[in-house]
Amino acid sequence: MLETLGNAPLPVVILVSGRGSNLEALIAARDRGLPIAILAVICDHADAPALALARAQSIPTQVLSKAAHPDRTDYDAALARMIDALHPRLIVLAGFMRLLSTDFVNRYLGKLINIHPSLLPAFPGLHTHRRALEARVKEHGASVHFVIPAMDAGPIVSQVRVPVLANDTADTLAQRVLSQEHRLYPATLRLLWEARVQWHQGRVLFDGQVLESPLQLTAAENDHFI
Ligand code: GAR
Repeated sequence: MLETLGNAPLPVVILVSGRGSNLEALIAARDRGLPIAILAVICDHADAPALALARAQSIPTQVLSKAAHPDRTDYDAALARMIDALHPRLIVLAGFMRLLSTDFVNRYLGKLINIHPSLLPAFPGLHTHRRALEARVKEHGASVHFVIPAMDAGPIVSQVRVPVLANDTADTLAQRVLSQEHRLYPATLRLLWEARVQWHQGRVLFDGQVLESPLQLTAAENDHFI
């Protein structure tokens, strides 16, 4: 459980693999007053655009490539050493596309959060937008959830819903969902900083009560949840 931090920013480590648009949105939100301190960005690909983004903002970066640790257990142990040396209160997965081992996830249970481009539990895994179109769903979106030892699973904190349009392609739908992810993640991190959202024994508490269904980000400009 994250205790309230008073006015101090929430110290986070952000894990990325590629483009880094969610990272960029979090940095922009921080610059507009979201109380997070980005201790470091850790990436599994040395050439990821996300790393350049972080460096341009003078955020410390670290690379942990699969080549250096081909064995998953070794990789996750090295990742844990990197993270522990930074003492974050929260580990933020922002397009980190590696499966994390059970031991790793259990070590950070309640302190590990992920954003996924679907209305979980629908469409875990890859190609969510294409699969949403194939399934002819009317609504798609994104979810922020605490991570448990299963892919794209774990107690869901918040979601944003995006209508599927008749002429959508996977790309147009992905773009509209992504722009909403960029609202959802900062707004959710604010709730965590405020300790309005907390992990408690495998469930999400919101204002001290068990959250029965995910918070829904409104479509309005100011980031409110219902
Ligand atoms: C985002 O759409 C994020 O939700 C997704 O990867 C993309 C990363 O984009 N994550 C997952 O699919 C996790 N299962 P970004 O690098 O531009 O933030």
